[in-house]
Amino acid sequence: MLSIPRQVAGIVVPVPVVEGAGVRLKRSIAHSQLDYLDPFLLFDHFGSDNPQDYVAGFPMHPHRGIETVTYMLAGIVRHKDSLGNAGSIRSGDVQWMTAGRGIMHEEMPQPLDDRMEGFQLWVNLPAALKMTKPRYQDVPSGRIPEIECDGGASVKVIAGQVGAIRGPVTGIAADPMYLDVSMPSGATFSLPVALGHAAFAYIYRGEASFGDAKAAAGTLHPGPRLIVFEDGDSILAATRNAPARFLIASGKPLREPVARHGPFVMNTREEIAQALQDLREGTFVRE
Ligand code: CO
Repeated sequence: MLSIPRQVAGIVVPVPVVEGAGVRLKRSIAHSQLDYLDPFLLFDHFGSDNPQDYVAGFPMHPHRGIETVTYMLAGIVRHKDSLGNAGSIRSGDVQWMTAGRGIMHEEMPQPLDDRMEGFQLWVNLPAALKMTKPRYQDVPSGRIPEIECDGGASVKVIAGQVGAIRGPVTGIAADPMYLDVSMPSGATFSLPVALGHAAFAYIYRGEASFGDAKAAAGTLHPGPRLIVFEDGDSILAATRNAPARFLIASGKPLREPVARHGPFVMNTREEIAQALQDLREGTFVRE
């Protein structure tokens, strides 16, 4: 079967943003250069050697109509919510939270061995599921399979399928793939991706090139960079003199209207007004 490698459609340099109660982070989706990569609403990379950059955290705040995906490389995020859930997301762990009709939660990053680093991705929910019952998939690092691929890459499969290996996060409307890829220097990586799905790579260490079969000789993109791909049925990556680590995400576009107001993402302004009213009247969280 003929393969259509995805070309690089755009390169986003993350912008510094202060969020929550004063957390400094790098944002690649949800700003002027890239507002929305349907179905992905937001992508943040947080982490610093200075705890003052993040310990104020994200005190109690609501979400409705979306999924938030937290993946930690180092440190801990302590989590507590309005439904009585509480826990810690540690190095290598993933929390895939389907906020649905509404949760209130706090997310408090803490250092461990002086380090804290991670990512948060927001995935949109289709209109039919925006008011679904909230659901958590808390996945400890030990449940995330890591596979060695031809060409030298090793891949942690959080969601989606690589070869015969399926990631532990399942039942997500966007049919996502979410991978953490490590490549030594001089390596190549080839990944089948569903045709028609949106896809990006986020380089967070080292440098890599992406594109067609000539990727190995193409432009090297140093991290941190978010690479948006054109359509196609595969992603090709290569490293040269330096290793690289990057995430890959893909998902099925919803092609629905988006009404966004901070942590609420609905289809209409009326639904946003309803969320604000529910919050005022104390009826936001429903069992
Ligand atoms: Co949150």
